[in-house]
Amino acid sequence: MLGLLTPQTRNIKVFIKAFKHTSIHRCSSVSCQSEYIRSIILENTEIVGEQSLTPEFKLRLFTPNCRFWSEKPELWPFDDPYWAIYWPGGQALSRYLLDNPAVCRGKTVLDLGSGCGASAIAAKLCGAAHVVANDIDTVAAVATHINCELNGLEPPVCLTNNVIGSPPKGFDLILLGDMFYDEALATSLHSWLDHCINSHGTKVLIGDPGRAQFEEHRIRRLLRQLAQFELPESVREENYGLTCSSVWCYRPEL
Ligand SMILES: C[S@@+](CC[C@H](N)C(=O)[O-])C[C@H]1O[C@@H](n2cnc3c(N)ncnc32)[C@H](O)[C@@H]1O
Repeated sequence: MLGLLTPQTRNIKVFIKAFKHTSIHRCSSVSCQSEYIRSIILENTEIVGEQSLTPEFKLRLFTPNCRFWSEKPELWPFDDPYWAIYWPGGQALSRYLLDNPAVCRGKTVLDLGSGCGASAIAAKLCGAAHVVANDIDTVAAVATHINCELNGLEPPVCLTNNVIGSPPKGFDLILLGDMFYDEALATSLHSWLDHCINSHGTKVLIGDPGRAQFEEHRIRRLLRQLAQFELPESVREENYGLTCSSVWCYRPEL
């Protein structure tokens, strides 16, 4: 995952698990932990809106004004805060949904690797009937709740277990924003997506800015490009000069 980080965000990497555990165990109940996480998120993020591909909604993210943009990563008390960045793949995917609301309207939608919850939020704004945000980082679930509240939306159902490899649920649509950054993850995702498609006819949309792990993966030649977006200047600067991000459909003939 580190390869995905930008020079600025590389500093966010977290290593000292001892600190993490002592911090988390200050609260024993689930609601107390969630309140503690919420307070840390509110204290260490800024509301960002206009600078992304989806100015229609706001998100709480790390910005250069935030302490942990440049702070020693070991001082961040939880797992790597990938939810604190709105990744270019997720931006393109969310933009595509907002431009094509019929894709989500009335559908059951899973945003897998939901991070800040942006694509789940876009699906909700498009009138999805039921949205599930899944991220193995429990802090991402709290961030998703906060970001939904920020936009006057009911939070989606947030799942924090690893669903890849588990028996597929009957979602109409699975969203994957910037999830092809690691070869092993991409490969396990690929076979699980095949199960979802074969068992329920699920439609799969992928947002990716052209990362090597995505371009070189065997799933890539099975995808159909639906849209490409130029990234805003600030997003380019934060992402090693990536200039655009695309949306792909994976739905091999049933
Ligand atoms: C690069 S971020 C993308 C976040 C968001 N989709 C976006 O585009 O802004 C990848 C996210 O996937 C999550 N993740 C990694 N492995 C996962 C898994 N097996 N199941 C669910 N989420 C996972 C990470 O915690 C992280 O939040």
